[in-house]
Amino acid sequence: MTRPPSVETLGEDDARRELAQLAQVLREASAAYFKSDAPNLDDAEYDSLKRRNAAIESRFPHLKRSDSPTDKVGAAPADGFSKVTHSQRMLSLGNAFDEADVQDFVEGIHRYLGMPSDTALAFTAEPKIDGLSLSLRYEDGVLVQAATRGDGSQGENVTQNARTIAEIPQKLVGAPDLLEVRGEVYMDHADFEALNARQGARGAKPFANPRNAAAGSLRQLDASITRSRPLRFFAYAWGDVSEPLAATQYQALIRLGALGFRTNPLTALCSSPEEMVAHYKIIEAQRATLGYDIDGVVYKVDELTLQSRLGMRSTTPRWAIAHKFPAELAWTRLEAIDIQVGRTGALSPVARLMPVTVGGVVVSNATLHNEDYIAGRGGDGLPIRGGTDIRVGDWVQVYRAGDVIPKIADVDLTKRPVQSDVFAFPHVCPECGSAALREEGDAVRRCTGGLICPAQAVEKLKHFVSRSVFDIEGLGAKQVEQFYADGWIREPADIFALESMYGSGLQQLKNREGWGEKSAANLFAAIRDKRRIPLKRVIFGLGIRHVGEQASDLLAKHYGTWDAMIAAIDAAVAYSGPEWEDLLAIDGIGQVMARSLISALSQPAERATVDRLVACLDVEPAEAPVTEGSPVAGKTVVFTGSLEQMTRAEAKATAESLGAKVSGSVSGKTDMVIAGPGAGSKEKKARDLGLEILTEDQWLSLIGRL
Ligand code: IVH
Repeated sequence: MTRPPSVETLGEDDARRELAQLAQVLREASAAYFKSDAPNLDDAEYDSLKRRNAAIESRFPHLKRSDSPTDKVGAAPADGFSKVTHSQRMLSLGNAFDEADVQDFVEGIHRYLGMPSDTALAFTAEPKIDGLSLSLRYEDGVLVQAATRGDGSQGENVTQNARTIAEIPQKLVGAPDLLEVRGEVYMDHADFEALNARQGARGAKPFANPRNAAAGSLRQLDASITRSRPLRFFAYAWGDVSEPLAATQYQALIRLGALGFRTNPLTALCSSPEEMVAHYKIIEAQRATLGYDIDGVVYKVDELTLQSRLGMRSTTPRWAIAHKFPAELAWTRLEAIDIQVGRTGALSPVARLMPVTVGGVVVSNATLHNEDYIAGRGGDGLPIRGGTDIRVGDWVQVYRAGDVIPKIADVDLTKRPVQSDVFAFPHVCPECGSAALREEGDAVRRCTGGLICPAQAVEKLKHFVSRSVFDIEGLGAKQVEQFYADGWIREPADIFALESMYGSGLQQLKNREGWGEKSAANLFAAIRDKRRIPLKRVIFGLGIRHVGEQASDLLAKHYGTWDAMIAAIDAAVAYSGPEWEDLLAIDGIGQVMARSLISALSQPAERATVDRLVACLDVEPAEAPVTEGSPVAGKTVVFTGSLEQMTRAEAKATAESLGAKVSGSVSGKTDMVIAGPGAGSKEKKARDLGLEILTEDQWLSLIGRL
């Protein structure tokens, strides 16, 4: 074999050719390694080719390919799965952190259902597996599709990969014609250690924890790699079904077990909060010896008819909750406090820590919340940690609870250096030098620079492209930072001009480091694809303070279209008049949020950026609820007086699910008033206005629930 020419002597054309060959050879080697445990290169050869590839790239950085082997952790990252829209959303769960939260959860359910608090209610309690959720669709007993959760509405099609997992049945006997089984893909501890040892042996980066290993293994474009990874699956829920699986959650799990799925053996049926917490303790005591990661216990209302009455909030069910295990702790030294500026100008202190392992993950940063927290004061102004402040050089206790950012719980004063200074929280923005002010009642100090502050602008852009907002494939936080730094994008509308500005001509995206012809074309296509976008995402994407995902959803549903919303907001600019009242009448929108929305959209500079953005978009009107045949679709209804067969919350949720708008006050816009015993002024007003007034029974019979 002839020796390859030294990298120093390579010409540009040869370098380009060799990088292409190396990408292919290394990709094949990687696949062969994982596919059959029969590598076609030995480790030394593989490493030497990887080193040569890196050396060529470092001499010709602009030739680095978008599929460069340097960027690969083990194997090809998944960027090419098709999308699957879940026929029923894949939900996440609300959290309980202590026994009082569990009690509240159970009481809330009694209240919602209008049951006396001493009525017995059954719940299942089962481990919360720390993996990633997967939805498996079976038609006529045959596995036809597997999809990840994604953002809950849309996930990735990983059918080929799921077929390689031994614990996922390919065929079911005796199942409903249509059945979507949901559960968790995970890796157990022993398999995780062995996989990481293999990764290490071939110079690949080890996975941080079993969950990352499971996710990385499932989301492989090459299913043969997934096959070589020891993934497991527990079934715990379902989506679409052509006929009910059973009458209760517990029986449904038994049915899933009979169909060939693994269900968790630690699942129990409990009939009181005390029994639920007792089972939580039993599971917690076994946590260390289970052999796989769990991060809490999930409680679910057992009766399925009650589950459906309880329904869901925007992303979480009312009938289930995750009782999380307490956070994991470690002590380390605080090396510095940095200040980050967020999209709404908030100055957030970040602790830079001497790296320490907390619950299997190396932590080197933690949040310090705000200046009061550092000073030893809580949100109510009262001392926390006995009033101890936090200083650079201190030994601090770090904790992680579930997935959340690490936090600092305590300070060890016995280890405080003799020389230490109280931390001086800045009063000017470290990014743009504008004054940083704290408004009355706000725990947070904020930069007043608005759009002139580069940090605010970049953070707004990052929020804009994030998964729950525009979710543009190929345009993440890193790319946004680079484009901003180079002046390519300054505001969201610029994203939609990238192709016309940098698709051709002298300055071209494909010539930039890390970009090639294909990746540039893919990005432009992904951006074009997002021009048509649901209204709620546009609202949330504006990044207006206090206007979160749930509020955006409420606003979208209320106004229906962008034009209707912006016209109403413009008309409400004086915080008075019918449009203002109408905005406040939306259940879930309060004064603070409404004012923030109006004030953001009436500031000329900010409004101009919003108008420029909307001009680039084709905003999809809000989806109307499924209201086919609903006699109350589009009607505005008011409930007043006491209801006897359902609680107010249930009545409201049911009416909304049938396409009605529920308002708190009677006006000329009201279509009908449902008046129970004790209805007072609202019923009178309705009579005066000549509106339709129904009893609770008439309402229930109108909507077909009697
Ligand atoms: S039930 C509506 N049960 O936790 C109920 N989820 O934080 C949907 N998870 O996305 C989920 N173990 O990935 C349920 N026994 C269990 C679970 C479980 C783990 C995950 C699941 C979900 C997340 C919510």
